[in-house]
Amino acid sequence: MSVIKRIARSLVLAGVCFSVLGVTQAGAAAVPVERGTAKPKDFPMLSACGCHASLIDQWSKSMHSQALSDPLYLTKLEEAKKATGGALGPFCNKCHGPAATMTGEIMKGGQLSPGVATGVNCGFCHLVTGDTGKKANTSQLVTLDGVRRAQIKDPQAPHPATYSAFHESPEFCAGCHNVDHPVNGMHLEATYREYIESPWAKEGVTCQDCHMSKAPGVIGPFTGQAAGGAPERNNIYAMSFTGGQVALGDAGLATAMLKSAAKVKLEAPEILESGSTEVTVTITNVGAGHYLPTGLTEVREMWLEVYVENPDGTKTPVGEHRFGTILQDDKGNAPVELWEATKIKSDDRIPPRESVTKKYSFSMPAGAKKASLKAALLYRSAPEEFAKKAGVDNPITEMAAATSMVYASQAELEAANREQVGQGRFFDGINLIVAAVGLLVTIGIVAFFLLRGRKTA
Ligand code: HEC
Ligand code: HEC
Ligand code: HEC
Ligand code: HEC
Repeated sequence: MSVIKRIARSLVLAGVCFSVLGVTQAGAAAVPVERGTAKPKDFPMLSACGCHASLIDQWSKSMHSQALSDPLYLTKLEEAKKATGGALGPFCNKCHGPAATMTGEIMKGGQLSPGVATGVNCGFCHLVTGDTGKKANTSQLVTLDGVRRAQIKDPQAPHPATYSAFHESPEFCAGCHNVDHPVNGMHLEATYREYIESPWAKEGVTCQDCHMSKAPGVIGPFTGQAAGGAPERNNIYAMSFTGGQVALGDAGLATAMLKSAAKVKLEAPEILESGSTEVTVTITNVGAGHYLPTGLTEVREMWLEVYVENPDGTKTPVGEHRFGTILQDDKGNAPVELWEATKIKSDDRIPPRESVTKKYSFSMPAGAKKASLKAALLYRSAPEEFAKKAGVDNPITEMAAATSMVYASQAELEAANREQVGQGRFFDGINLIVAAVGLLVTIGIVAFFLLRGRKTA
């Protein structure tokens, strides 16, 4: 692109961005996420962020873009409102729709203006300048001056933009990823609290490093551009916010994210001649910077299944364990809904970089000469009835698994070994033949050309 063309393009972009992002207001004070603290024009339409096409694409597939339209959310919100005579509605919406709360539109009902209708969006996040100190229940502070903030130290955007250390910190996420009971203060969701105590936090790995990286399981920023035509930088993040919602989020990314979180080890004896034996399963939280599962843990389902895979495809169960939190109310009833809870009755989730061991008794299926044992750690976002009520698919994802073969006698084990070695020899034989044929063909081709070359010479 010529210099003149480049300048012309910047001028056009600047014009567009100024007109759609609104006029800069110098010296605006930071305001909390409360009703009436903002006007619809403070939050631009998505098209105003058009220069960031790939970021828009990433965010559009994230749960943040659906926070106000998510059928699981809307179903739970209705239940919460019904149970509390409507009192809880604004509390839930404040976090799932912070911009729509600030303009007050969500309380009024009816059509939301386009800049606030999309849940947790670009317009909101990039005006955040800090928090009230609380780090829970949407405690962010927002400065409505039209200046976009992020981690870029020397922004060259055609719109007002500035560096924000807050955006690089895990505290940026804390205000929404810690949910306390609005009346009794108990911790209902504590992802940030779990993280800040973890070895990851001590090593300086942030939420952004895992959830906004190049790919699930890859940690940290990457080299790229903040917008089309912008300079190449080495501290770029994706607006993907990849989590575990396979049905509603980006299925491929969410599946890979879940698979990057855990490892399963299965220990069983090779031979079991009679009676029963103990099998040991160890699950390690290798990749999540918080407990496994985290967030809405009384809804999320993560469980271990240990079983024999029969030759006909059926499963014979050996054992099962469900991980999660169970909420309890004043009277000791459990499980109860979020809003009824006063106490956590039990919590057996797996802390970051820690392992949990489960032992099961196993006996050989009657008449079997060998058994293929499998331990699988499975996950789904919601209980079946809840997903059905919301009309949402609820796929089960295998996060991690391990298998082990158990034989009914030493003779069976040896027979299996011979079979394997035999197979190995068979394939070695085939390889030898293939190599020999290949060599002959090559010699033939070379000879052909050599002979032809001599004739023409
Ligand atoms: C939940 C809040 C949130 C949302 C929603 C969000 N961002 Fe970001 N964005 C961030 C944070 C935090 C960073 C900085 C990450 C870091 O440095 O650790 C960032 C970085 C950026 C950057 C700097 C370049 C880069 O890619 O790293 C741009 C530009 C950007 N966001 C634009 C957008 C646009 C456009 C949208 C909407 C399509 C969007 N953001 C949605 C929080 C958000
Ligand atoms: C304004 C509040 C807000 C902020 C700020 C925010 N989040 Fe979220 N986040 C939410 C809400 C609400 C949801 C749930 C949306 C839904 O599923 O309906 C969510 C969902 C997610 C999910 C998807 C979970 C899943 O099940 O797939 C991830 C991952 C996530 N956030 C990470 C982050 C990270 C990392 C940051 C900081 C850079 C951040 N969020 C900042 C409110 C916020
Ligand atoms: C070391 C990487 C790492 C760090 C650091 C990290 N996470 Fe995660 N997070 C993961 C992985 C892997 C998963 C998928 C497994 C799961 O669902 O728990 C996940 C899952 C999630 C989910 C979805 C949970 C569910 O089951 O619905 C949310 C929300 C989330 N993280 C938010 C955060 C926030 C907020 C922070 C910072 C306070 C953070 N994460 C720090 C790796 C990380
Ligand atoms: C302070 C912020 C905050 C408040 C308040 C809040 N939520 Fe959420 N909500 C979140 C976050 C963050 C997630 C994602 C956590 C995860 O993935 O486990 C979430 C996820 C959900 C989900 C799961 C959505 C999905 O697609 O899997 C439902 C349902 C939900 N919230 C309902 C509610 C209801 C109902 C209320 C009010 C009683 C409420 N939330 C209040 C932050 C909040």
